[in-house]
Amino acid sequence: MAASTLSRATPSQNGMFFSFQALMLKSRRTQFREREKSIKITCQATSIPADRVPDMGKRELMNLLLLGALSLPTAGMLVPYATFFAPPGSGGAGGGIVAKDALGNDVIASEWLKTHGPGDRTLTQGLKGDPTYLVVENDRTLATYGINAVCTHLGCVVPWNAAENKFICPCHGSQYNNQGRVVRGPAPLSLALAHADVDDGKVLFVPWVETDFRTGDTPWWA
Ligand code: FES
Repeated sequence: MAASTLSRATPSQNGMFFSFQALMLKSRRTQFREREKSIKITCQATSIPADRVPDMGKRELMNLLLLGALSLPTAGMLVPYATFFAPPGSGGAGGGIVAKDALGNDVIASEWLKTHGPGDRTLTQGLKGDPTYLVVENDRTLATYGINAVCTHLGCVVPWNAAENKFICPCHGSQYNNQGRVVRGPAPLSLALAHADVDDGKVLFVPWVETDFRTGDTPWWA
């Protein structure tokens, strides 16, 4: 029956059968050649003379050099990244920081008083970089406190309104008296204070941790 089936196959079917066989044969030959190649490569690898293989000491040295080459730039990238998330230090002696004017220069008390009259409240850079008002008293001396200008409602910088003799927040209308005590909401708390000392002629802001003299309360910001 099989013979009769074969005998009945058309010439084109026979041709396809033989070309399929030829293809299979070719593929086996290719596989065989590749196997031969890999055997040759293996033989070459195993035939490297022992004196040309780096010893363990050299390999360790290379590893150390590689580690050093990678760790230096990595550390260079990580240090600024880490300091970005670290809260800025207050700096200066005793946790204080020298006040900076709008140009970033140290505030010299005598120079400041020449250009800022009685009742003046001008922004400087204070603790942790917060905008802080330096206050000139009516007797033309610097007040011993600075007023943090960050609104206790949602953090807008509160401008001084000399005509109203108040700090009035432009965001939601909170008001603070001329010492920064809250007199109208929605701000829940008074503006934070900092000591304003004069050290070696420069104005120095120091954290205020004592009772808030405006309210008699423990300072909420300390
Ligand atoms: S942020 Fe100042 S009143 Fe809302």
